Amino acid sequence: MSILEYAPSPETTAPHIRERYGLFIEGRWVSPASGRYVPTINPADESVLAEVAFAEAADVDRAVRAARKAYDKYWRKLSGAARAKYVYRIARAITERSRELAVLETLNGGKPIRESRDFDVPAAAAHFFYYAGWADKLEWALRAGRTAHPIGVCGQIVPWNFPLLMAAWKLAPALACGNTVVLKPAETTPLTALALAQIVAEADLPPGVVNVVTGDGSTGAALVEHDDVDKIAFTGSTEVGKIIARATAGTAKRLTLELGGKAANIVCADAPLDQAMEGIVNGIYFNQGHVCCAGSRLLVEERIHDEIIERLRARIETLRLGDPLDKNTDIGAINSRAQLDKIHELVDSGVEAGATLVQQSCWLPERGFFFPASFFTGVQPSHRIAREEIFGPVLSVMTFRTPEEAVEKANNTPYGLSAGVWTDKGSKNMWIAQQLRAGVVWCNTFNQFDPASPFGGYRESGFGREGGVHGLHEYLAH
Ligand code: NAI
Ligand code: MG
Repeated sequence: MSILEYAPSPETTAPHIRERYGLFIEGRWVSPASGRYVPTINPADESVLAEVAFAEAADVDRAVRAARKAYDKYWRKLSGAARAKYVYRIARAITERSRELAVLETLNGGKPIRESRDFDVPAAAAHFFYYAGWADKLEWALRAGRTAHPIGVCGQIVPWNFPLLMAAWKLAPALACGNTVVLKPAETTPLTALALAQIVAEADLPPGVVNVVTGDGSTGAALVEHDDVDKIAFTGSTEVGKIIARATAGTAKRLTLELGGKAANIVCADAPLDQAMEGIVNGIYFNQGHVCCAGSRLLVEERIHDEIIERLRARIETLRLGDPLDKNTDIGAINSRAQLDKIHELVDSGVEAGATLVQQSCWLPERGFFFPASFFTGVQPSHRIAREEIFGPVLSVMTFRTPEEAVEKANNTPYGLSAGVWTDKGSKNMWIAQQLRAGVVWCNTFNQFDPASPFGGYRESGFGREGGVHGLHEYLAH
């Protein structure tokens, strides 16, 4: 099938990337105690972008001390209105530097520039704007008669799929509520968090209110285990979430976990199919499927199964895979070789189990990490591809006959982060949505986010909420 060819349309303005980044502690760039730096790459061509400091326990300790000092000396004493101005300043700076941040996010993470430009960066700014508005109104977020107090020093550990946005989700409410922060970006995507540190410095926040320590899981573990941290907020794998839950059990540390998912996207026969198709495609192929709330299990009513499959087969041929910096690209690079290996391993397991694999026919770039838009038919609920988070552009399609069966299959998972329901019947939509054990249920849409709307999971998807007024409660002492 031939499709309209687009001329290349690459993003041209290269952001300024330093050769080497230190740790951001107490408002300054400092060297790691070990003197160790590690390269960070562009997953689309495997070229080295910069060297980044590797923080060990001694550096984490230095950052936590800085955060404690800033908390006691400045931040907890400021009025909410004064804090709001700082948070607002960060929001403004993100907006002003949105183009640079979008390019940086795409270079370091592999996601299409269209997504970082139109989603990640504006959504990150929106979170700071939203929580700036709350900083002087915290009492309104609580029950009458209660006073809002911050928790103290927060350790925040974020993943690589939405590096800037997850940093924003964590920082904005923490700062608005009067906490100080040590932020630990993911090992493969430190650059936008470091750009955010620079923004924090330029916004003139008191030194130590925000500290950024780069490193790997051992850096994160040092932060989790530090005695003077009052709260840990983590987004990442369920496996690490469980380790953190064990490490903080029996301590006074507060904890919120935003973990994996295996969301059901339920399409009834009476659904508006054109819109549902776009919701299915966006639900799984957005950000190469590196999305905790991705609609990775498609449940379709049996009598429209063949039609949906034919449409999906045609639709994935129109997705353009390639250079993430090209504004026409729909499917960018897989974030890392390790993640690509994981996707291959799970897809192989699906083929071996007897499911039928359908993939877009396209050439993959020679360098970099890429995986074509894919889906499986003939999936059994017991297959690994129906149960485990693949975190790649791979959809597992199953069928149902009645709404009751759809609900049963949708809830047959250890996770419970999100779900989608597509039907023209409002009452059926509401009934199904109410039965689903998921933190977010999208009705006749998918992947909609707003800073005012809480997000979080059930069961192995974690606990605690981010966003909205609920997100404030996670950063206030009670
Ligand atoms: P991960 O959970 O290991 O990494 C997430 C963050 O946690 C990173 O900043 C990492 O350095 C840190 N970390 C790792 N081990 C730690 C420890 N023991 N203590 C404290 N912090 C620690 O996730 P990974 O290995 O990058 O990805 C594996 C799978 O996890 C993915 O294939 C995907 O299925 C899932 N995942 C889910 C995410 C979500 O948004 N819920 C985000 C990233 C991964
Ligand atoms: Mg890991």
